[in-house]
Amino acid sequence: MNKLTAIHPFTRGLRGYPYGLVDRVLLADGRTVAVRPVLPTDMEAERRFVADLSPESRRRRFHLGIASLSDSMLEAFTHIDYRAHVALIAASNDGALPLMVADARYVVLDDATDAEFAIAVADDWQGIGLGRELLVRLGRHAQRSGLRRLCGDVLRGNAAMIGLVESLGGRVRSHPEDMLLVRAAFEF
Ligand SMILES: CC(C)(COP(=O)(O)OP(=O)(O)OC[C@H]1O[C@@H](n2cnc3c(N)ncnc32)[C@H](O)[C@@H]1OP(=O)(O)O)[C@@H](O)C(=O)NCCC(=O)NCCS
Repeated sequence: MNKLTAIHPFTRGLRGYPYGLVDRVLLADGRTVAVRPVLPTDMEAERRFVADLSPESRRRRFHLGIASLSDSMLEAFTHIDYRAHVALIAASNDGALPLMVADARYVVLDDATDAEFAIAVADDWQGIGLGRELLVRLGRHAQRSGLRRLCGDVLRGNAAMIGLVESLGGRVRSHPEDMLLVRAAFEF
């Protein structure tokens, strides 16, 4: 076990850590990943995960031409309260070094009933069910936490994300403000 795939003792003293979201998942190609809520100790893994995404996957995730996350963004991504901001990561132990291979998160909006979600899966891990596994878990957790709606802005040409949302029963509509985007939503 290592820092990425084992959660103890890193959760000690963390208020509200949702242990119920800790799991192991077997993917369609036979590989397994550890799934768990992100920890403050994941900053470097998160930095590497984002930096290692292909430029196209990064653009699809962030809608910007960024190459890496700033220190303040990394801090915000990994130091979360597990209520207004919930983030699930998947980590692999396959290679020589443990690797973060996916990240899915939501941030509750001001009305406290809706949240905005986003997700990214490492390029070598796409297309084998990992995005679906994380989004299902995130949605279930949002619903159990009393949220009514999870929504996300998706680039209009992002067939994989639109396909994933629709395969899970979500709706995809025109974006009210931006022609380049569509709005994906799950209602609970
Ligand atoms: C979009 C993304 C999260 C999907 O994750 P994934 O792990 O590759 O997707 P999965 O393997 O779980 O696919 C689940 C379903 O999504 C749909 N899907 C996946 N890839 C697809 C594609 N290229 N075209 C159409 N539908 C697709 C299918 O319905 C699929 O189910 P199936 O395999 O039974 O047909 C992933 O491709 C990714 O990280 N892309 C870059 C970042 C991004 O686009 N983020 C979205 C911003 S919110």
